[in-house]
Amino acid sequence: MDKLSNVESATIEALMQEKRHFEPSKSFTDQANIASKAIYDHGKDYVSFWEEQAAAITWRDQWTSVLDWSNAPFAKWFVDATLNVTESCLDRHLETRGDSVAYHFEGEPGDSRSITYAELLKEVNKLANGLKSLGVEKGDRIAIYMGMVLELPIALLASARLGAVHSVVFGGFSADSLRDRINDAGAKVLITCDEAWRNGNRIPLKSFADAALEQTPSIEKVVVVKRTGADIPMRVERDIYYQDLVCEQSDELNAVKTSSEDPLFILYTSGTTASPKGILHTTGGYLVGAAFTHKNVFDIKDGDIYWCTADIGWVTGHSYVVYGPLANGCTSVIYEGVPNFPDKDRFWAIIEKYKVSQFYTAPTAIRTFMKWGTSYPEAHNLSSLKVIGTVGEPINPEAWMWYQQTIGNASCPVVDTWWQTETGHIMISPLPGITPTKPGSATIPLPGIAVDIFDDHGTSVGLGGGGYLVLTEPWPGMARTIYKDPQRFIEVYWSRFSNSKENKWIYFAGDGAKRDEDGYYWLLGRVDDVMNVSGHRISTLEVESALVDHHSVAEAAVTGRSDLTTGQAIAAFVTLKAGFQGDDALIAELKEHVATKIGKIARPASIVFTDELPKTRSGKIMRRLLQDVAEERKLGDVTTLANADVVHEIAARVHASTTAKTPAPD
Ligand code: WTA
Repeated sequence: MDKLSNVESATIEALMQEKRHFEPSKSFTDQANIASKAIYDHGKDYVSFWEEQAAAITWRDQWTSVLDWSNAPFAKWFVDATLNVTESCLDRHLETRGDSVAYHFEGEPGDSRSITYAELLKEVNKLANGLKSLGVEKGDRIAIYMGMVLELPIALLASARLGAVHSVVFGGFSADSLRDRINDAGAKVLITCDEAWRNGNRIPLKSFADAALEQTPSIEKVVVVKRTGADIPMRVERDIYYQDLVCEQSDELNAVKTSSEDPLFILYTSGTTASPKGILHTTGGYLVGAAFTHKNVFDIKDGDIYWCTADIGWVTGHSYVVYGPLANGCTSVIYEGVPNFPDKDRFWAIIEKYKVSQFYTAPTAIRTFMKWGTSYPEAHNLSSLKVIGTVGEPINPEAWMWYQQTIGNASCPVVDTWWQTETGHIMISPLPGITPTKPGSATIPLPGIAVDIFDDHGTSVGLGGGGYLVLTEPWPGMARTIYKDPQRFIEVYWSRFSNSKENKWIYFAGDGAKRDEDGYYWLLGRVDDVMNVSGHRISTLEVESALVDHHSVAEAAVTGRSDLTTGQAIAAFVTLKAGFQGDDALIAELKEHVATKIGKIARPASIVFTDELPKTRSGKIMRRLLQDVAEERKLGDVTTLANADVVHEIAARVHASTTAKTPAPD
């Protein structure tokens, strides 16, 4: 299963040759929130470090202890404390910045709306009161399946206001994916939109939701935001328009008191099996981590305009569009659509329009912008930018340099931030006022975060070595469990390197990494069967099971192959049942089938038909060899194969195939 050998590949060696580095400018350091490197030493006592950071949010009752790790790996942070996260994100700002804008919303068709903190609190209260009238209580799960409209953060916050648990399902997922996530969470209410705007098209979210709702017995009510105003079927006893639900509601509501360890949200992410894992995050520690990292990684000041381009359907949107920025009282931009609508300069036009000072996006987007050329950013005034960031996948030094020079005008610090759905907030990243950067490296762990790199035997590899990225001490935003499956939580993340007898718990992140002589971390991609396509995590097994679900497919194997734009692209190898013809029409049909089963993001870039898949004598499919084949590399060791000839045959087919195309980044 592991692909640690990839860690030794030629590209990685090339990365390690990267010698450029950039010191923070004195003028930046002089004004930075964190201007002294002493904070790194300070963070070594991580418990007291995080306790200090907890002062930045509003609590009702104080904690009796900062960390309870006695039931590891199930952590409790800020034990016995109580709060409601929306009081930190909304209520407390009224006195100091009630009239300042929380969000500037920019619709894809060109409409826009700005909402102040005072207005946002009222909207949240109205929806929370509406949800309450539908029977939502503390601890209930609310599924959210929407486009990037203002009602989306409002929905998350209204859920939190009631002490309910939100489970956001990215609007690009299919009806089947939505159904499975609703059922796993046992959600009582679904909040969705009539349609979403995407690339000038209308995406029929409510009709996808209706298909999912055929098989979701737990859902009692469906709240539908009118976004496009399309004429859509509404089921009288079940569906209600958001606008109708909130119009009669009071804009006041006392937030429900929650404990620090009450669940705040579930977010599903792909693992190494076909069924996604419901990552469960709780309240107090999560908010402390999101607020601290947002404020200091992006060096947020009053008056700044911050824009994270991530969809709220992913963890980046949860922590860095909703909770972190709002806890810091920051003004954010939310943009609904794609970067090339109506033209390829839309992002730069938005930065110019709102005078964005911090911009946070994904490497795959940056590589796409590089491909489109510099004329698009050059047509706009980007001089408002102060810090620019990336997240979601490794960024190659070339894209990093392009970003720094073309978008950052060679003057903005670039913050490459490594973290995961499971970590809740940023873990490895420069602090822009004090950490020298190197193109392609996420630099060093944030203060209060303990990271290491282990070899196969669980030994730290030391400077200059490569291996598995691990986290060696607990941190406040850590996932608390996999929803309804604590055993899987232990197995997936905590079994590999922990020594439970000695009570030493090591979190295995699933990423390969190398550490250079200066202690800088270079992330090298996943070492498990998880692909990373345009920054989205997709499991090989999920795509395989979608393929074998098609009536023509006998067997399928899927691997991620490198792609210059999307990081990885999905390469599928398929054996057909007798009587089916492997032609272009079937390739198109199978790609569509996967998109329908999982979502467009999982559509294979290439499908190659083969009479057999390469297998070991015990019948295990050798995906690593298929990755060699897909990347047209020299083949690895084939001696363990039961059917070695087949690999050469597939390799010849891949080589001959000119049909392999890369999908546009989402
Ligand atoms: C990858 C997104 C290299 C990594 C916040 C991780 C990165 C997975 C970086 C988590 C980065 C994220 N450099 N790789 N800066 N950031 N990754 O859960 O493989 O959607 O395990 O969280 O993305 O993806 P997730």
